[in-house]
Amino acid sequence: MSYIEVKDVSFSYTDDERLVLKDISLNVEKGEFVCLLGQSGCGKSTFLRLLAGLEWPAKGVINVDGKLITKAGLDRGVVFQDYGLFPWMTAGENIVLALTQKFPNKDKRQLKETAVKMLQAVGLDESIMKKYPKALSGGMKQRCAIARAFGIDPPVLLMDEPFGALDAVTRAKLQDLLLNLWSRDKEKKTVFFVTHDVDEAILLANRICVLGQSPSNIIYECRIPEEQRPARDTQFEDVNVLKLRNELIRNINRDVKSRI
Ligand SMILES: Nc1ncnc2c1ncn2[C@@H]1O[C@H](COP(=O)(O)OP(=O)(O)O)[C@@H](O)[C@H]1O
Ligand SMILES: [Mg+2]
Repeated sequence: MSYIEVKDVSFSYTDDERLVLKDISLNVEKGEFVCLLGQSGCGKSTFLRLLAGLEWPAKGVINVDGKLITKAGLDRGVVFQDYGLFPWMTAGENIVLALTQKFPNKDKRQLKETAVKMLQAVGLDESIMKKYPKALSGGMKQRCAIARAFGIDPPVLLMDEPFGALDAVTRAKLQDLLLNLWSRDKEKKTVFFVTHDVDEAILLANRICVLGQSPSNIIYECRIPEEQRPARDTQFEDVNVLKLRNELIRNINRDVKSRI
């Protein structure tokens, strides 16, 4: 039995027959870093929302650790592109609120200490605790969102284009940060990371699944073993990486062309 099992899942937002996802099946093992790649509008966010338990499949089932997903749960942390911080709370209060749900028996002081530790782990200092989201840059807000997600320490992390709104330099820093946080855990989190950026997927993933156009299914899949993970500085000098890059772009384009 795989850790995450997606079996014949179809999904529609409407009551008519228009499916966004059709007959998707996917087995993921614990600790895998899976990137979901695909054109805008193909259903990546929808698929992630199903894994999060925020939507329910019209057909098929999703099991995580042998349990059927029927609602959102603290075993699955979610990080969205728009940071998901409540604007009326400070960054610290946002993180502590999430920690309270996960650790209801810990007192406020302990939770604040954990929040500060997590902020430091993502390269921010304690002063951020008292700042409101509107006083933070996009990169800082996303660091806070990552601190919150890792603070809850869920075995599964679902990330929907988390770095899509950031400039290239901040984005690269946060990609490295995410990989560092993920790889330092002895028991690695299982990550689903949605992106439309082929290079981002190649840098982060152990496994890349390309979703075709709606009603979408997985039209291409490849694995990148940990020891073959490309380095940022040399990724464009590596022939194997360039081949994979072309292969991914070809597959995305082939499906788009056939549907225009
Ligand atoms: N809440 C919604 N209600 C109706 N249709 C939606 C909703 N959210 C997304 N869709 C449609 O579902 C399809 C897939 O959307 P989405 O999962 O957001 O794609 P992606 O994340 O790959 O860009 C699109 O055609 C989109 O218009
Ligand atoms: Mg999306």
